Amino acid sequence: MAKLVRFGVAMEESLLKEFDRYIRRKGYRNRSEAIRDLARNSMVQEAWEQEKGEVIAAVALVYDHEKRGLADRLTDLQHHAVPMIVSTLHVHLDERHCLEVVVLRGKASLVRKLASNLLAIKGVLHGGIIATGVPSSEEISQSPPPSKHLHPDL
Ligand code: NI
Repeated sequence: MAKLVRFGVAMEESLLKEFDRYIRRKGYRNRSEAIRDLARNSMVQEAWEQEKGEVIAAVALVYDHEKRGLADRLTDLQHHAVPMIVSTLHVHLDERHCLEVVVLRGKASLVRKLASNLLAIKGVLHGGIIATGVPSSEEISQSPPPSKHLHPDL
């Protein structure tokens, strides 16, 4: 279990009120939880932007599979980056459109480059990237078991 350290934070009353409204909207139980998340997000964001360290990214793409060359290009890019590809999910949305979610893991600079290349494929209609990192082992042992999230009433 990770040791939690308490520290004092001073901020303007108006900012704190705004922050409290924000954390209620987001569904946090308390300020500490919200601040921990903000800290983690900032560090993942920094790793992503500065292209340092390891990141994990889920890239979602919607495209028309009848568009010439697009599906081949998508497959080709992934085959040339096998060590970085954790998993690929393909969903046939209708007769023409497909959703592909590619999970990448590796050096931030490489993951970012591949994610951009995937989104930049000509004919991709819509897409987005969710970047994340691996929490330290201490944080993992501190997290509640997944069943708590799935069955809040139990
Ligand atoms: Ni499809």
